[in-house]
Amino acid sequence: MRASAIAQPNIAVIKYWGKRDLARNLPAVGSISVTLSTLYTEMQVEIDTALAGDVLLVNAEENRSMLARVSDCVDIIAGIDRPAVRVSSKSNFPIAAGIASSASAFAALVVAAAAAFGLSIPRNRLAQLAGRASGSAARSMLGGFVELENDTDNIRVGSLLSAADWPLEILIAITAPGPKPVSSGDAMEISRRTSPFYDLWIEQQAADLAEARAAIRQRDLQRLGAIAEHNCLKMHSVMWGSRPPMIYWNSATIACMQTIRELQARGVAVFFTIDAGPQLKAICAAADVMTVRTALLATDGVLELMQSGIGEGARLVSA
Ligand code: DP6
Repeated sequence: MRASAIAQPNIAVIKYWGKRDLARNLPAVGSISVTLSTLYTEMQVEIDTALAGDVLLVNAEENRSMLARVSDCVDIIAGIDRPAVRVSSKSNFPIAAGIASSASAFAALVVAAAAAFGLSIPRNRLAQLAGRASGSAARSMLGGFVELENDTDNIRVGSLLSAADWPLEILIAITAPGPKPVSSGDAMEISRRTSPFYDLWIEQQAADLAEARAAIRQRDLQRLGAIAEHNCLKMHSVMWGSRPPMIYWNSATIACMQTIRELQARGVAVFFTIDAGPQLKAICAAADVMTVRTALLATDGVLELMQSGIGEGARLVSA
């Protein structure tokens, strides 16, 4: 009647931006990410027939703003006639600030909810169900380099390389704490409706995915970096061209980008990516991580630096 699961957030190197089916939250494009190892969300789901309705605790405090999304996700797993649940979530990183907190939260939630209700659901199906709550959550079901394929009627996740196959390091430069002004989901819809670049973005995604796939297979960091930065900046161009425009960066985000470009000019193998928030993520070989750390910490406006390797997919921690 009670189960806990852990999932790690993931960082997309080829981004998901746009939905083709709002009701089922199906992405308009495929994407490729790396699952992180040190950041995590732990979700506990407890069935409690004495409760009048679901309860959500986030880091031990009752949270009403996320409750509807969490309840809907449990409904998707266990059906709407289910008994009420108490869901407790714990994360070791800031939520809703562009560090993919919804990805680890919903990946952990589907695993914990399925176990609490005694359901045995195959992993790819769990990924589809997690993806209904948050598109990027489907990718956190697996570890290493993960591709989300945008099939005709559904999504499918597959692992391209395991963490051990290519042990890279990820540094997350926090440039502003706190939640983002517009959620990714809302922002994607604004882009779809208003950005003159949206159709081109969708059209070019297959080529970007193919290039990233090839770079990952060859473990070619420079090649992966070139396509990942292009894809990231193209996604932000779609947002900047939207009405109203969505500009998630601040001056420190741009300063971090310049720092990475200076490192690249000095021959350091590193690249950056930025999601719907002001934090910059740098990806580099383990051997270069101290050089990249030092440079980012010396960058104006960096409040904190988080470091992670590449980690595993969502998993049960207790039954
Ligand atoms: C910029 O997965 O948060 O991080 O499906 O509406 O929950 P919803 O969106 P979400 O979007 C992630 C957008 C992104 C790019 C990415 O992770 O691929």
